[in-house]
Amino acid sequence: MLVLGIESSCDETAAALVNDKKEILSSTVLTQSEHKNFGGVVPEIAARAHLEHIDEIIEETFKKAGVKPQDIDAVAAAAGPGLIGGVTVGVMAGKALSLALNKPFIAVNHLEGHALTARLNSDVSYPYLLLLTSGGHCQILIVKGVGDFERLGTTIDDAAGEAFDKVAKMLGLGYPGGPIIEKMAALGDENRFVLPRPLYNSPDCNLSFSGLKTAVRKIIESYSEDGIIEHAIMRKRDVADICASFQKAVTESLLHKLQKAIFLFRKQCPAGKHIVVAGGVAANTYLREHLKDLADKEGLIFAAPPIKFCTDNGVMIAWAGVERALKGLYNGLDFKPRPRWPLDENAPKAAGAGGVKA
Ligand code: KG4
Ligand code: ZN
Repeated sequence: MLVLGIESSCDETAAALVNDKKEILSSTVLTQSEHKNFGGVVPEIAARAHLEHIDEIIEETFKKAGVKPQDIDAVAAAAGPGLIGGVTVGVMAGKALSLALNKPFIAVNHLEGHALTARLNSDVSYPYLLLLTSGGHCQILIVKGVGDFERLGTTIDDAAGEAFDKVAKMLGLGYPGGPIIEKMAALGDENRFVLPRPLYNSPDCNLSFSGLKTAVRKIIESYSEDGIIEHAIMRKRDVADICASFQKAVTESLLHKLQKAIFLFRKQCPAGKHIVVAGGVAANTYLREHLKDLADKEGLIFAAPPIKFCTDNGVMIAWAGVERALKGLYNGLDFKPRPRWPLDENAPKAAGAGGVKA
């Protein structure tokens, strides 16, 4: 079973070929640099850039693998959630290939792509506890199987990655914020600034990061004579200490709610053995190390995708496509891209009218 995966839901135009032996035949990722000066992704610019590059990215992916398009068994494309212009570009490319090659089409939920990726490189069995933390989402879920998720908690405002990006923007560090903050944090004192842990005392597994971002803003303002953060005069040392204190606060908030989630997971799924992290923020080594410590303490096994497959890529979509194809979960060519698509909603599982079936 060989599946082509296409990803275009945010600012990466990507494709990959993955088979059911867990072999990655090739992977191509183009990260759009057009957004760097905006401190975030500009949807229209992203859509145009996907349109410009999608054909060559797919072509290159086949070429690198030495595989002919006719040799694949299915085409999977991220069909949401995400920026609808970009998602539509990838879905249309996937559908066109599916039709031309007479191979089935699979509409992959981008979040399911993140959620299942760790199974590609580690021996993670269902059910498992998942922290899914990216630029647009921050959720704690039980993954019971393909298309079978139970959400235990979610952010009520910003996603953790979004908070990293906004704090980096306030500090004038550029976009995306996560990797730059992680680098700066390694040079700083994580105990210098006392930052809040929003929702820490709420009994549920929900999270919140917007208050944390505001607290950082106040600190930066205190370095500015007129209170305008762009005028703040800070030493590199101050910036590093803010980054370290912020990274610690985000990590502690996530760990605290995961601890609660582990309790629920154990009650519901006594046979469950793994705790998994996925999504762009899962690339953060500090977070990964602390999650590993938590898992060890709780007698669970920690698993995560390799760092390069935490941020958006085609491999995760191809692999979710493989898992879906093995279960015969194909979609019709009438599948409409979805800007919003909650993971715990029952995803369409059967081919629709007019669809290509295996
Ligand atoms: O999964 P992803 O590539 O795109 C979405 O689906 O959102 O995640 C991107 C997010 C960005 O907010 C970025 O700042 C964050 O992941 N990120 C990180 C790190 N690398 C990427 N956050 C913290 N530490 C990192 N090393
Ligand atoms: Zn993502």
